[in-house]
Amino acid sequence: MGCLYVGLQTDAIHSHGYYDEATGTFIPPIYQVAMFEQIVEPRLSDRGVDLKYSREENPTVRCLERVIARLEEGDDALCFSSGMAAISCVYIGLLRKGDRVVIPMEAYGTTIQLALELKEKFGIEVVTVYPETEEVINAVNRNTKLVLVETITNPMLRVIDVPEVAKVCKEYGVTLVVDNTFATPVLYKPLRDGATLVIHSMTKYIAGHNDVIAGSVIGSRELILHLWDWRRKLGTIIPPFEAYLVLRGVKTLELRVRKHCENAQAVAEFLKEHSRVEEVLYPGLPDNRYHEVAKKLLRGGFGGVVSFKIKGGKEEVRKFFKNLKVIKPAPSLGGPESLITYPVLSAARTIPVEFREKLGITENLVRLSVGLEDVNDIIEDLDRALKAI
Ligand SMILES: Cc1ncc(COP(=O)(O)O)c(C=O)c1O
Repeated sequence: MGCLYVGLQTDAIHSHGYYDEATGTFIPPIYQVAMFEQIVEPRLSDRGVDLKYSREENPTVRCLERVIARLEEGDDALCFSSGMAAISCVYIGLLRKGDRVVIPMEAYGTTIQLALELKEKFGIEVVTVYPETEEVINAVNRNTKLVLVETITNPMLRVIDVPEVAKVCKEYGVTLVVDNTFATPVLYKPLRDGATLVIHSMTKYIAGHNDVIAGSVIGSRELILHLWDWRRKLGTIIPPFEAYLVLRGVKTLELRVRKHCENAQAVAEFLKEHSRVEEVLYPGLPDNRYHEVAKKLLRGGFGGVVSFKIKGGKEEVRKFFKNLKVIKPAPSLGGPESLITYPVLSAARTIPVEFREKLGITENLVRLSVGLEDVNDIIEDLDRALKAI
């Protein structure tokens, strides 16, 4: 087809639908505007809402939403100023007093924290369960309104069997929300397997350059329109410039994700043989507990994040971090730069110590977001820093 964007993405990339005949422009411009001309008749956007004010609807944002919807194979999407803004909108837009919510206790810390605070403030019942498919399924009953799971958990990288969770949610009429941030739509599309809504922190792989904070929700036209009204009231739409950056980043999503996965697999295999490493957690390793379910769900790779346990404790981790040169210690993932985090002080900080230990999040655990550098540079950096402990 003569198109640079090969494979899964070709169709999605071209689905932003922007073309300006007067200038022959097909790259969406940044509509850096607060409002639009409003005469008597409303000017409708392509989803049928009034295009009058950028807190509600903006053409650059709309281009991105069409691309994201297509990537996840949903009817439509909404883009937000952050992943947490997307999650807040889903909670606030869908839940009422007395509703029962099930969330694995290893979900992103702020996702759980927000749910627990809504429980205190607004009387929503929140059940946190051990992050295994079986435990999630067992917690669902006829009083459950919403289940939120992450395809690949953080930092232990467990893979949840989304189709199995979806079956039980369907049986009880429960809304299943899947945070697909770690897997990305390149590796997995939860809507195909029965999820009601998909969420992304687009800050990570989708934008992909460590320079923007953004989120999205994808689902049926009706549900997205319902949430659109909540986003309008909450005022959490993504700004047009950020939408443009995500649109630009998403063009290389598939190429980047493939490379992240390839590098991560090589790094995991290297670490597995290292004398200073106690354990490697990566679903791409054949002896990993989640390898079979990962093979069932994920297409073309096992993700770009590798967690591992260093022999020793906090002091050894401190020395290891200090000796890294290529890999940067910073609390994010999914960008070109390899980033390393210390989960007991970042992602799992809000998990009470007794649960943390039950989950296996120990003081010698580190999480590595494997970047797009030459994999030999990443491996050399790890080797040097491990040997310097
Ligand atoms: C799985 C997951 N979901 C949601 C979020 C929140 O996204 P954001 O930081 O874009 O608000 C994060 C952030 O790290 C995350 O890792």
